[in-house]
Amino acid sequence: MEHRCRSVAHPSLAVVKYWGKRDGGINLPAVPSVAVTLAELQSTCDVVLDTGSSRPDRIVVNDEDQEPVHFEPLLDAVRAAAGVSGRFAVHGHNSFPTAAGLASSSSGMAALAAAALGAAFDASLSADRAVSPPVDRAVISRIARLGSGSAARAVYGGFTRWDAGAETARRIHDEAWWPEFRVVVVPVVRGKKPISSRTAMERTRRTSPYYDAWIADAPLLADVAENAIGNRDLRRLGETARLSYLRMFATMFSADPPVQYWLPASVEAQIRLAALRNGGVAAWETMDAGPQIKVLTSQEAVPAVIDALQDLSDGNVLVCSPGPGVSVECPGHAP
Ligand code: DP6
Repeated sequence: MEHRCRSVAHPSLAVVKYWGKRDGGINLPAVPSVAVTLAELQSTCDVVLDTGSSRPDRIVVNDEDQEPVHFEPLLDAVRAAAGVSGRFAVHGHNSFPTAAGLASSSSGMAALAAAALGAAFDASLSADRAVSPPVDRAVISRIARLGSGSAARAVYGGFTRWDAGAETARRIHDEAWWPEFRVVVVPVVRGKKPISSRTAMERTRRTSPYYDAWIADAPLLADVAENAIGNRDLRRLGETARLSYLRMFATMFSADPPVQYWLPASVEAQIRLAALRNGGVAAWETMDAGPQIKVLTSQEAVPAVIDALQDLSDGNVLVCSPGPGVSVECPGHAP
């Protein structure tokens, strides 16, 4: 029998970064991270669970077949949680570039975990009834984390925190908390990144002499950022976010061999934003495992930010506000 669900999730942009894993589990973070879920970017995921099939799972994202091995820990955990067997057929779609440093793995894996859990719990219940999945967000977050750490946060809307060593993230404020808060995303280049965040993260853990200092310093930054969000203090949040991403990159630059994601346009954007701030505009950039620039700012300052950075963009500049957590619908059974 087939069980279908469709989910929608939005990427989780970290203001204080998850960078480095603890031993003893899958994607257990070595540091706390604090993030915002971005409404205007989205991943959708259609999952069909065929309980009668023993063929391998099939995963297609934006019409490209994916290596199932990257998805097996997540899908196996879903089967185990619901006590079902069978084969998943997955079709994912991102409304924005995949694996380009725009956090597609956070929303993609959050969407996958929610839809797969929905289908699996549907299958584990008695036949002939449409269910809305009886799965709570903590379970989705724990299982999404097995696909990609940052996905644990994308399960929740608004502002989130994921503590060091924690199996799940949690929401600290919902998406209505800070209505004027905006993130301007400036994609300075299209195309996939040269080295995955997972590989880069592991390399810095193993080889950067600055890694221990990064781990020691991160909890304070997470606390300051959480407080700044609680006070809607954009300057404090922006300054803390800059410290976090620049210290994260310090561990990458000092790895062996070094990890270098920045492009000339990334550096030009950093310089222009410093000039904007000197002129009184509230705008602070952050970066992830890629060259793209994301600017933390207010609704009021968005035009000035776009004006300053638009010519550096290799695509559409996107203006994002805090968005909802993952949602899932399961229409019922097909015989
Ligand atoms: C720089 O969540 O992609 O975006 O757990 O190995 O899948 P894995 O890593 P991933 O790393 C995200 C790193 C980051 C910072 C962040 O989102 O916190």
